[in-house]
Amino acid sequence: MSGVSPRARKPARRISGPARAALAVVTLLACTSARTTSARAAEAPEVAQACLACHGEALAEGAPPIAGHSSNYIQLQLVFFRAGRRKNEIMQGVAEGLSDNDIRALGKYFASLPVPDVKPPADTQADLTKAGEAAALQHRCAACHGDTYLGIQAAPRVARLPEAYLAKALGDYRTGTRPSSGGAAMTEVAGSLSDADIKALAHYLAVLP
Ligand code: HEC
Ligand code: HEC
Repeated sequence: MSGVSPRARKPARRISGPARAALAVVTLLACTSARTTSARAAEAPEVAQACLACHGEALAEGAPPIAGHSSNYIQLQLVFFRAGRRKNEIMQGVAEGLSDNDIRALGKYFASLPVPDVKPPADTQADLTKAGEAAALQHRCAACHGDTYLGIQAAPRVARLPEAYLAKALGDYRTGTRPSSGGAAMTEVAGSLSDADIKALAHYLAVLP
């Protein structure tokens, strides 16, 4: 990945796969939890510049907005990508060059930015929206993500994310190409979703007023 330096790749990997990822998560969170409540508007670390090509005001390559997610959520996702547990060619390439310190700084920085003030696209498929609302009620999505879907604790904001990204995310949880924090919450939820549910839910969340 151009712009992200390939440093901090540990030569020896004695602990493998999931165990290593879990360890990394625990270490990261232990080191940051004391700080997450302080300091708004963190200074942009140099390594954040490379992210803006896709996660800036104009989104590119199917990337979702990341500004305003919690620092823990951002760090977890970066650790999942780095460990190859969340599969995405682009982000695995980006994350493999990130050190733990980079990940902490990136989490803190993007969490300090305001949630993008996106206007929902015009809803031309009212029936699909209704179906999505019904599926969200049935699966109790709001219980974890909040009544306005702006996120609560480990459950991130999902309101007004790009529709294609939402559908992909739900499909990825269902097939297990993406792990879920929060006691595997999303893996369990997505396991029972049909293709039609996913289509409707993604549409409903994308056009939320
Ligand atoms: C070339 C484009 C590109 C660049 C550069 C890029 N990303 Fe991404 N990013 C993506 C795409 C595409 C996804 C969606 C992956 C998926 O579908 O699972 C993503 C997903 C993410 C997510 C998960 C978001 C969520 O809601 O779960 C985080 C966090 C993230 N990127 C952080 C970063 C950071 C930090 C950088 C810079 C160090 C960066 N990205 C650079 C394309 C990019
Ligand atoms: C038991 C709590 C819980 C329930 C119920 C739940 N979620 Fe989640 N959701 C989470 C957590 C925790 C995450 C973060 C998982 C991770 O680490 O990727 C998440 C992540 C997501 C994401 C990924 C967002 C992103 O930026 O990539 C989407 C989309 C999502 N949930 C949609 C839904 C929908 C739709 C429903 C209902 C069908 C639902 N969730 C029900 C807890 C929940």
